[in-house]
Amino acid sequence: TDVERVNDLIARMTVEEKAGQMTCLADSFRPFNPPNPQAGIRDEGRLAAEVKRGRVGCLFNGYGVAGARRAQDIAVKESRLGIPLLFAGDVIHGLKTVFPVPLGEASSFDPELAERTARAAAEEATAAGLHLTFAPMVDIARDQRWGRVVEGAGEDVYLGRLFAAARVRGFQGRNLRRADSLLACAKHFAAYGAVSAGLEYGSVDISDETLREVHLPPFGAAFAAGAVMTMAAFNEINGVPATGDRELLTDILRGEMHFRGFVFSDYTADEELIAGGFAHDARDAARLAVQAGVDMSMQSGLYIDHLPELVKSGAVPMQVVDVAVRRILYVKTMIGLFDNPYRSLDPAIQKTRIATSEKRDLAREAAGRSIVLLSNAGILPLSPISNQRIALIGPFSEDRDNLFGPWAFYADQGSGIDIANGLRAALQNPDSLTVTPGCHVEAEISGGLAKAVAAAKAADIVILAIGESQMMSGEAQSHTVIEIPAAQQALAEAVAATGKPVIIILCHGRALALNGAVANAQAILATWFLGSEAGNGIADVLFGKVDPSAKLPVSFPWESGQEPFFYNRKSTGRPVVSNVTEYKARYSTTDNSARFPFGHGLTYADFVLDNLHLSDTALRWNDSIEVRARLTNRSTRRASEVVQLYIRDRVASRTRPIRELKGIKRVTLSGGESIFVRFSLSRFDLQFVGYRNQVIAEPGVFDVWVGQSSADGLHAEFTLYAEADNKGQK
Ligand code: IFM
Repeated sequence: TDVERVNDLIARMTVEEKAGQMTCLADSFRPFNPPNPQAGIRDEGRLAAEVKRGRVGCLFNGYGVAGARRAQDIAVKESRLGIPLLFAGDVIHGLKTVFPVPLGEASSFDPELAERTARAAAEEATAAGLHLTFAPMVDIARDQRWGRVVEGAGEDVYLGRLFAAARVRGFQGRNLRRADSLLACAKHFAAYGAVSAGLEYGSVDISDETLREVHLPPFGAAFAAGAVMTMAAFNEINGVPATGDRELLTDILRGEMHFRGFVFSDYTADEELIAGGFAHDARDAARLAVQAGVDMSMQSGLYIDHLPELVKSGAVPMQVVDVAVRRILYVKTMIGLFDNPYRSLDPAIQKTRIATSEKRDLAREAAGRSIVLLSNAGILPLSPISNQRIALIGPFSEDRDNLFGPWAFYADQGSGIDIANGLRAALQNPDSLTVTPGCHVEAEISGGLAKAVAAAKAADIVILAIGESQMMSGEAQSHTVIEIPAAQQALAEAVAATGKPVIIILCHGRALALNGAVANAQAILATWFLGSEAGNGIADVLFGKVDPSAKLPVSFPWESGQEPFFYNRKSTGRPVVSNVTEYKARYSTTDNSARFPFGHGLTYADFVLDNLHLSDTALRWNDSIEVRARLTNRSTRRASEVVQLYIRDRVASRTRPIRELKGIKRVTLSGGESIFVRFSLSRFDLQFVGYRNQVIAEPGVFDVWVGQSSADGLHAEFTLYAEADNKGQK
């Protein structure tokens, strides 16, 4: 059995071989694509010698079957115990076929879409020789200054849980032993998205309750969906770096959350305990990390360097090492690696499963469904057959290097469809399109502005493609200002001054604070980074082949200075009521609202909600109520709307947010059609983390809204009655 196999190996392993299994190094058997500036062992010969001595358990961020087979051959045939290697990589939103960045895809408010794209990414990744991906990133991100917002599902816990689970299911598939199952690693444990002021690698100071209520649940959802790996976060929490935090990685992760898989460190994060002021030296750092519960050390080599001596000296009990090795070996058995070390390493499959037309079709569908229509003064959709002259202006118009977004380093640059080409392919008369960049992302082009203004004047409509370059979000991309860069804002102002109608296409990896001509354009589309089929996906929506139906997973504030900003904030004792603003909880120049709130997103149809009805205004302790509202499509177009249910617990022993998302329903209706959208609420939907981390629901009055964003909705109220309270009885 697997257990016997693992026990037998552990009994025969030297402590150095055990430390080797607990070591993950950057792959140099295959083309190495560094996501980080630090280099690993770049030389294949040196790494081969390490593998042969059993000093490596996992290789990461390489690509291709040929190199992986060379490495696996050495591990299986030349190392003393023949333990196969795991091959890992950051396949975040696709390998060769690139899907929208995770934040973009979360805009679909459709976890099933994310499951399908994750499955497609897994098929490609496993065909290219990978066993596991360092994804999904399930960190809740409420500060748009943090660059890694782009890699998650946004600011909301409910949405975050749905997408975490869906992505795990997609990556792993139903059967881990299948060669196209890609193991998922839910990261970064924990609260990485809560770094103070959005500063990457920064510190986190939060209450236990917020940690458990906001930041841990998406991990719980990922584990429940079957994720057998997680990664310790770079940040510290309340003074203790996650990588050295035994309470976090053992008591909470294993004790409370019942996680059974293994824990990676992040890239050299164990070594970074020294600079963080938590460990004296490398030996101390290795000791702290392993005792905290980091099973696999990534890239620092600290375990292989120090664990043998730490065990021999008695500083780390052998049992601690054995537990970690057992977890790692057990995962290797779970995917059938001992029975077939060459699973996922078939050169024939590599040729047939990667970059297929089916995957491109899915990328196009996902692109269209990730685009959020922020505003539309009736200008969209455009007609592809009219002879309107269109000026496509902006640095992203013909830029193929900024389609994919961060973490798409396996993809072939230049293989994506840029916006200009997407529009040309959709237009009956491609000559009606003129294209000019106007400026660079962060700098002027000499004469660029004049050319752009001339192009705008000669056109009937301007499409302005502006935003952030793909390297402006992602790891180590914290920004103090989340606005359109100055050169592009100037371009927008100059183009708008021509008086021509302007449609803004935003390219970006975070919510932005929009100003001036950008905010006042005739239409604005949030398109994030859409991947291989970006241009086609944008054209599909612009010309109405696809109706936009996406919703914002992050709030767009009025100003950068509102960050961290999220819809489910607290009331405070002095909320703004009836527009009275003096001595109220607000910034002196800015309202507490968002320019575009979480959950907002328009369609080309005209949806309206009415007839909100609760099956009962008394919710009994062990019962549920139905909340329903009628959705009508008043237009003539068939389209989809995402109806959202929010609640507020009016009075509680720990104050509750002004709104919390508790349900989403995607509905597609033909023109003129109506349907009742139904949600169910029980006390479990009303629970929160209360005093001493107890998960509780408290009897009392609740508000409920059914709406089309977090800032609107039909309102009703109901009362939750305690188990023994007969007022709740019929
Ligand atoms: O998986 C990543 C992580 O998210 C950030 N640091 C590097 C890791 C491996 O590339």
